[in-house]
Amino acid sequence: MEKLAVKYLGLSLRSPLIVSSCGLTSTLGYLKEAEDCGAGAVVLKSLFEEQINHHISALPTVQGYPEADDYISYYIKSHSVDEYLNLIKKAKAILTIPVIPSINCFSSEGWTGFAKNIQDAGADALEINVFFMPLDRKKTSADAEKIYFDLIEKLRKTVKIPIAIKIGFRFSNILHMINQFYLRRVEGVVMFNRYYEPDIDINKIDIVPAAVFSSDNERRYVLRWIAIASAQDLKIDISASTGVHSGTDAIRYILAGANSVQVCSVLYEKGIPYLKEMNRQLAEWMDKNKFGSINDFRGRLNWHNYKKPVVFERTQFMKYFSAID
Ligand SMILES: Cc1cc2nc3c(=O)[nH]c(=O)nc-3n(C[C@H](O)[C@H](O)[C@H](O)COP(=O)(O)O)c2cc1C
Repeated sequence: MEKLAVKYLGLSLRSPLIVSSCGLTSTLGYLKEAEDCGAGAVVLKSLFEEQINHHISALPTVQGYPEADDYISYYIKSHSVDEYLNLIKKAKAILTIPVIPSINCFSSEGWTGFAKNIQDAGADALEINVFFMPLDRKKTSADAEKIYFDLIEKLRKTVKIPIAIKIGFRFSNILHMINQFYLRRVEGVVMFNRYYEPDIDINKIDIVPAAVFSSDNERRYVLRWIAIASAQDLKIDISASTGVHSGTDAIRYILAGANSVQVCSVLYEKGIPYLKEMNRQLAEWMDKNKFGSINDFRGRLNWHNYKKPVVFERTQFMKYFSAID
């Protein structure tokens, strides 16, 4: 459907709906299904630096042969990367929609070389999924932020394809971070990743994983920041992630200013074909409101355009702003 077309990271997408990085973008079969069901693009499951390193460190060492250990770790690293590069090449061969690989890295050293291989494999853009757990109380926020900036600078020097950075919302000043990404020539920011979180099971008296899948309630953490970030005078695209469970949720994020909208949990719950229904809901709402293109309404309710921008600034439930006293 022509009218759903958008630009994201300079790429032409036939729909703003992107299947976000997860298990549903880890095989060719799923990727083809996503294209057949109307996805505008796919972000491949992340290649995790930590996972590869863990895999290597869990191996028994070869007694007396340090070179053998080096060789094995080199082999595992290159094998994991080769598998990933093959997926990119095969996906590019069979899909017409953009293919965006994702790397999760925590050290800026060494890892950036893989980004170049990803570009050479034909990727349309690169998503970097970064999060550092700040566990050292002697480090400042600026120390933690610098890790992101150093990594981006290295990646920017390494690849020419567009880069989107997928971040969490736990920064003291999200706008400062986005501004710094923009100054380092990052083309897009994905707001926000939703991480693995621990919970406590009081029956087992043990730590268990918190809910793996999101609910549409979680939109509330994201919407405000998309509305505020999209109102900045910055040439950086915004892809909304977390809590998109229907076409109407996608409409909300686009009204707030998102250029594209990423979908994950709901596709695990309802299946990849649900993308068709989401595109249908989006198109139907556009027809009803006489919007001929996504740009006709994108950002209409952002911090800059909304008649009462104060609604995005308020955080406390004060009498005059909350429906409940
Ligand atoms: C099972 C699962 C695996 C995921 N794997 C990745 C990943 O490899 N890389 C990544 O950047 N995000 C990953 N995510 C996060 C999703 O891409 C997405 O940002 C998050 O789930 C929020 O979107 P949602 O509300 O539509 O689920 C994963 C999420 C789930 C549920």
